[in-house]
Amino acid sequence: MKHDILDIAKRRGFFWPSFEIYGGASGFYTYGPLGALLKLRIENVMRDYFMIKENCLLIEAPVLTTGDPWVASGHVENFTDMTIECQKCGEAYRADHLVEEKTSKSTDGLSLPEIQKLIRKNKIKCPKCSGVLGSVYDYNLMFKTFIGPGKNKVTSYLRPETAQTTYMPFKRLYEIGRKQIPLGVIQFGRSFRNEISPRKGLVRLREFSQAEVQFFIDPKEKNKHPKFNLVKNLKFSVLTKNDQKGKILKINDLVKKNLTNEWIAYFLARSMQLFEGVGIDKKKLTCRQHKDEERSFYSSDTWDIEFLSDNFGRIELVGIADRTDYDLKRHMELSKKDMKINLNGKKFIPNIIEVAYGIDRPLFCVLESCLKKDKDRVYFSFPPEIAPYQAAVFPLVRKDGLPGKAKEVYEMLRDEGFYVLYDEGFIGRAYYRQDEAGTIYCVTYDYDSLKDKAVTIRFRDNKKQVRVKIKDLAGILKKLMNRQIVFEKAGKLVK
Ligand code: GLY
Repeated sequence: MKHDILDIAKRRGFFWPSFEIYGGASGFYTYGPLGALLKLRIENVMRDYFMIKENCLLIEAPVLTTGDPWVASGHVENFTDMTIECQKCGEAYRADHLVEEKTSKSTDGLSLPEIQKLIRKNKIKCPKCSGVLGSVYDYNLMFKTFIGPGKNKVTSYLRPETAQTTYMPFKRLYEIGRKQIPLGVIQFGRSFRNEISPRKGLVRLREFSQAEVQFFIDPKEKNKHPKFNLVKNLKFSVLTKNDQKGKILKINDLVKKNLTNEWIAYFLARSMQLFEGVGIDKKKLTCRQHKDEERSFYSSDTWDIEFLSDNFGRIELVGIADRTDYDLKRHMELSKKDMKINLNGKKFIPNIIEVAYGIDRPLFCVLESCLKKDKDRVYFSFPPEIAPYQAAVFPLVRKDGLPGKAKEVYEMLRDEGFYVLYDEGFIGRAYYRQDEAGTIYCVTYDYDSLKDKAVTIRFRDNKKQVRVKIKDLAGILKKLMNRQIVFEKAGKLVK
């Protein structure tokens, strides 16, 4: 179902283009009160999963980084897009995308001279003004700046991924983790890519949030994930590098058929479960293996989980890659610091399995998946784990002392630790506003409440209402959110 998410997002305060009052800049969005909370909750689900269930360590590194790490990682040399500019209006484009749009053929793996030739051969002009296009050149996507002033200033970059900032302190983390591998380390934070012309809202940002998990493992143990048995029989829609049409496969088949290793297969399954848990429509998710020619320079095998969006087509939500020993070896070469470990007398550089989540994209897919339309309203059916606000409280009318009493209920719920809003006004409109915010329960204080010391709870998803005693309200809401009781049995059903 295609809805104008951007319109609701701006109106209700999920997100909006940044620097709006000065005309904005594409690729930058500001999360408003609902969006910032939604983002935090999605991150919390991920943090809890990886720290509690997968035993990961949490770190946080600077986003501004000296130049050497990016020379070592290969980003200074290779993190480029083929770019072309219009000689008349100056607009810049991804040259390979222009060729794909014109010829409807994939350009994966083509070199710069080959793309240049195709631009000429197909007589491709500027899509905006039909001007003549210049020469194709490699454009590095990293934002470059300097640390400090004067002659000694240091060339530096805003990190294009959190990954390298986790790899650099590997040896320190290994010591802190009591010298054990597998070692899992998770980092949440902003990364930056100076995209050529981002036009897909939250799906292509120049400043974006990541949750990247790095597992340092023994290269000989890639087919020995300790918990593989727990997921091996789960089935998902899968596209492999040699079959991009797709079929339903068991996780175990991916390993048995030698399509990937147990570590990657395990985290494909777990990521599918995580996405479903935060409300993303699982019918729209597919595991897709990168073709050889599209894979990043640092990886021997990469898989994405993609969401088929009504608004933006295929969206990559997580990349799971076998980065081999590439990164640690490169840091060892350039920094001259030993990255080998000694395990039972065996010295080697660990291999890295990376599980790299975007946050903004899953958040957008949560919005798209949870946006529902009834005949007279639009609402977000966020699961309790991620709904920005759990409840809202209103008085039935703005008189006869009801607002003051409703505020007491509101304060009581806040004291009990709920994220709760207070609103007043025409009750139908108040419901409408909360439905668009995805607030799960609306609590109304009415004239009867003065006598029976009870309130009405209305459930967002089916508009049913139950009457409960105010003294029981907090406990009942907690049980509902923990799925310990069903809504219809939470109190006296209001007919
Ligand atoms: N670290 C992998 C990525 O940023 O895509």
